[in-house]
Formats: sequence, structure tokens, C-alpha cells
Amino acid sequence: MIFESHAHYDDEAFEEDRGSLLESLREHGIDRVVNVGASLESCRTTLELMEKYPFMYGAMGVHPSETGELNEDHFKWLSEQCCKDKVVAVGEIGLDYHWKEPEEKVQKYWFERQLLLARETGLPVIIHSRDAARDTLDMMQALHAGETGGVIHCFSYTKEIAKAYLDMDYYFGIGGVITFQNAKKLKEAVAYIPLEKILLETDSPYLAPEPNRGRRNSSLNLPYVARAIAELKGITYEEVVEVTEKNAQRLFRISE
Ligand code: NI
Repeated sequence: MIFESHAHYDDEAFEEDRGSLLESLREHGIDRVVNVGASLESCRTTLELMEKYPFMYGAMGVHPSETGELNEDHFKWLSEQCCKDKVVAVGEIGLDYHWKEPEEKVQKYWFERQLLLARETGLPVIIHSRDAARDTLDMMQALHAGETGGVIHCFSYTKEIAKAYLDMDYYFGIGGVITFQNAKKLKEAVAYIPLEKILLETDSPYLAPEPNRGRRNSSLNLPYVARAIAELKGITYEEVVEVTEKNAQRLFRISE
């Protein structure tokens, strides 16, 4: 069965049909979902979703673009949530220089704090890094993030950067972008990354794959992603689904 490693079902894009959509996932071959926090509010909603749906797990973290809202009290709350049952990662955390808000200094401060939180709680991290390849890698190496372990979500960098993360034993979240015709560098990177280090993800409601590009994304689109990876690597669709599921269970420490 397909393991969805990164979705945002708390998003308002799912306001109208969240329940029916989530309840239909299993019959479409998707048996587990990690809902990823990106702000304090989305962490709260993620906790509710986890309680309601047995197949749903959660990641607790604040996205770099949202770190302007953080203070010590919030951080303490966030830390406490990390000990809850079914919380499987700290994320999504990182650096986003595409949107220079808040300023780099603030993003870096809270990235470091959340990386250290992951280490303290023994959870892996879910990394968001956009237009910030060098700084993300520098910080992660300096803070020994290899010992914490985790996944580079929506990996969008080159084969060379992929190698640096492989050396740290990280996983790579691959989603809809792999089906885009102009994603040449990503395709090269995915051909290079061992299947044992790849997780399937959507980032729903964003980044729907071809042929649904531009529409609202959901985990139902994951077969398109798995097929694209299978084609690139010259292996079967079934193998991609099976191995990426095992990878996610290993990283998030979820038993079968
Ligand atoms: Ni995301």
C-alpha cells in the first residue's frame, strides 16, 4: 500500500470534503498519511486529525515562512506535543529564501531551535529548503543533523546536493514535480538516489502531478508519482510502492 509521507489536510482547500476524501483513501490503496504541521494552528489541527483517523500520523513544526509568530511560550507548547503518541517527526522546518519573510536571521534561529528539539525528543526531521541549499546544508552539518535523521521534503536541488544528504543518511521526499516535463535536474537526481532513500509525498493541496497539474492535489494522485519514479529507474510500479512504504515505516518508526 502507498505511504503518503507529506500532506496538509488541515488546509482550508479541504474544508468541503475532508472527511469523505480521507475516508476514501484506503480503497484507493493509500493506507497511511503523515499530516505535516507548518504553523502553530496547523499543528493543532494536525493533532485533531490524528486523533480522529487511525491511519493518520503527525509532524509538529513551524515552516520557515511562519517562524515570525514564534516565541518561547509557543516553543514550549510545540516541544510538549512532540511527546504525544503518533507524532512521528519534527517538521516542516528549514529555510525559505524564496520568500524573504521573516528575515534570514529569524528563520535560522528557529530552524536551529527546532533541529535541536528533534534531537532532544529523538524524532526525525522533515526539512523544507527553498532557494537556500548552501545555508540549509551548512547548518545541518554544523548541528550534526545526520545523527537526528530525516527527510528532505520536496527535494528540488541537484545531484551534488543529493549526494551531501545521502552522506548524512537522509531520505528524499519526491512528489508531483517529478512528473513535470521541465524537471530535468530533479529527474537526474532521482535517477541517482537509491530507491531505499525515497519517500512518496504530495504536499497536498499543492504541487499536483501531471495530468492534474494546477488543480488541488491529494494523496489520490500518488500513483502518478510512483509511476514516474518507476519509469525513471526502470523498475515496476509495485516495487516503488512497496520499497517507499518500508522506507517511511523505517524513518518514522511505524511498525507494519
Ligand atoms: Ni509541506
